[in-house]
Amino acid sequence: MVELTLPKNSKIKTGTRHAAPKGAARTREFRIYRYDPDTGENPRWDTYTVDLDKCGPMVLDAVIYIKNEIDPTLSFRRSCREGICGSCAMNIDGRNTLACTMGIDEIGGGAVAISPLPHQPVLKDLVPDLTDFMAQYAEIRPYLQTVTPEPDSEWRQSPEERAKLDGLYECILCACCSTSCPSYWWNSERFMGPAALLQAYRWISDSRDEMQGERLDALEDPFKLYRCHTIMNCAQVCPKGLNPAKAIAEIKKALVERKF
Ligand code: SF4
Ligand code: SF4
Ligand code: FES
Repeated sequence: MVELTLPKNSKIKTGTRHAAPKGAARTREFRIYRYDPDTGENPRWDTYTVDLDKCGPMVLDAVIYIKNEIDPTLSFRRSCREGICGSCAMNIDGRNTLACTMGIDEIGGGAVAISPLPHQPVLKDLVPDLTDFMAQYAEIRPYLQTVTPEPDSEWRQSPEERAKLDGLYECILCACCSTSCPSYWWNSERFMGPAALLQAYRWISDSRDEMQGERLDALEDPFKLYRCHTIMNCAQVCPKGLNPAKAIAEIKKALVERKF
């Protein structure tokens, strides 16, 4: 009989509870996933009580408050605080999203649970290892490729041609979509995932690019592209309102209709 065992250290323990600061009138609890592989200890849920009158309105404000005022050992990524850089993506209340654009009061009652983006190795606390995700992005060659000599001025594009990039160029590579995709969870080494495929379609759609045939060739693979089973989690979670599933369907259509 096959013996299935969970890896050592996989059980999440209950961690430390940090009480409300003295005199706090309006508070909210945050249950945060803590893990440091260097210690060899199991991950744990630490609970922090945040004084809402002392921190801003967004979940990222609360996480920054916790680090600055309660526990400086907490690790997470963030940069722009405006939904532009994609670095504060995390799983908040069971959903992948950006901590800087998610309001605390948008989350229903009780403690706010925060964990790293799922199904990626964890470097520490809320910091996932996105090395493979970024390598997949590099693999789609996210830059203009041409064969004709460079023009003297800019590469021209009509307003209609430019409009074809709407809904694609806005991707900030936050990885919320890929890490919410069940197909990516099970085949992340071979399936490119919704983010890389949306980016691939962004270049396939660009009227100035002259490598559409090569780009499609590179994706014509049972795993890289066709592991998408239209589950649509990607479109549901994208914090920029993009639809990677639609972009994937357009690539499949282009492969069927291709003339080059
Ligand atoms: S539509 Fe495709 S890429 Fe998006 S979540 Fe589903 S399987 Fe993943
Ligand atoms: S498509 Fe949306 S969810 Fe996916 S990486 Fe881009 S911005 Fe993030
Ligand atoms: S900090 Fe840049 S997207 Fe949240």
